[in-house]
Amino acid sequence: MNALDIINKTKRKQVLNYEEISWLVNNFTNGNIPDYQMSAWLMAVCLNDLTEEETLALTYAMRDTGETLRLEFANSVDKHSTGGVGDKTTLIIGPIAAACGMKVAKMSGRGLGHTGGTIDKLESIPGFRTDLSIEEFKSIVNENGFSVIAQNTDLCPADKVMYALRSATATVDNIPLICASIMSKKLATDADCLLLDVKYGSGAFMKTRRDAERLGELMEKIGIAAGKKCKAVISDMNEPLGRNIGNSLEVMEAIEVLRGDSRGELCETCIDLAAEMLYFGGNGDMDECRKMASEAITSGRALEVFRRTIELQGGDPRVCDDLKLLPQPRCSYVIRAMNDIEILAINCEELGMVSMLLGAGRLTRDDEIDYSAGIVMNCKAGDKVTAGSTLMTLYSSICSDFSEAALRALNAVDYRRTGRSASGDR
Ligand code: URA
Repeated sequence: MNALDIINKTKRKQVLNYEEISWLVNNFTNGNIPDYQMSAWLMAVCLNDLTEEETLALTYAMRDTGETLRLEFANSVDKHSTGGVGDKTTLIIGPIAAACGMKVAKMSGRGLGHTGGTIDKLESIPGFRTDLSIEEFKSIVNENGFSVIAQNTDLCPADKVMYALRSATATVDNIPLICASIMSKKLATDADCLLLDVKYGSGAFMKTRRDAERLGELMEKIGIAAGKKCKAVISDMNEPLGRNIGNSLEVMEAIEVLRGDSRGELCETCIDLAAEMLYFGGNGDMDECRKMASEAITSGRALEVFRRTIELQGGDPRVCDDLKLLPQPRCSYVIRAMNDIEILAINCEELGMVSMLLGAGRLTRDDEIDYSAGIVMNCKAGDKVTAGSTLMTLYSSICSDFSEAALRALNAVDYRRTGRSASGDR
């Protein structure tokens, strides 16, 4: 077998068999196939796609480059989001599901580019450790029902090297490649049920609902073929989820929801997703599961789960009572409407990039992040805003010159002028 023949086959839309895909993945992971050949194959996949059988073969081949975990929890459920902006749902749904008796053992990633990562959010809590041993992880899930750790380096090494290459060669946004990347990691851990939150819109990898549905269907098929209970839900990422973007800012918003202080759209989305998890785990019909999820918040039980997980993972649980104990930014910059306007749309990916520019995210895997940085949004598409009102506030501890970030943030908002300017002019 050789790489050139495999690249040529995909280029000519000929179907690869399992042996060929596995050979390619193993030899690239071991360093025997150079980046330029793997890049050529990835680009051929982007142009011609893979069949379902090839995607399943790619998923298995990637999974089998590393260890697989045996966690052996009964009633375990995992939830995976395909990536978005301001997506702090894991911090809310995990404690809700655990408060309702499920075992949520979650391995998460760090943020890269415009999308945030759950691990960075949790690490913004002073002392919080995500590098637990598998034994510690299991023991926290057994005691408290909810734990999140960073993706184990021995799990799916192929995905690490392939994802890095895809990021550098514009080959991320292909449905079979995304499916194999996510599902290989999910199949390497062993939750009974897997809820996939597939996002579409300006802040997601999939820009259209149709593509998100295709990705969701493919991931479900691969999960089911591998023996999992698997369900994909499609959700809108044309706007940030909730108001806050950035690590400690998102933890603050998640705690507000868990405290029951914020019953808006974010809370409703989380109740819906948690209900899907509970339903999936056989806890009743959807109405009953929604009620259970909602009661986990109103009773304070979900907040208690979150507080205990923070404590068990070495963090300061007092953040649940006093949000000021989370990293606070040194500088801020308020962006106001110059005129009476109506917000038409928000470019969510661009806001993710602005947040990264402020220090909340990484351009490359080794970049340091500023946990306090980010954006608090005061507007959504469809809002009518009066001149002088705050559209959003930018926060950072490392950036005192906000000019580039502010310009890009303002350009991310599409609006139409409806009336007077802040100085009273028409
Ligand atoms: N998330 C992943 O883990 N992999 C992808 O390819 C895209 C999103």
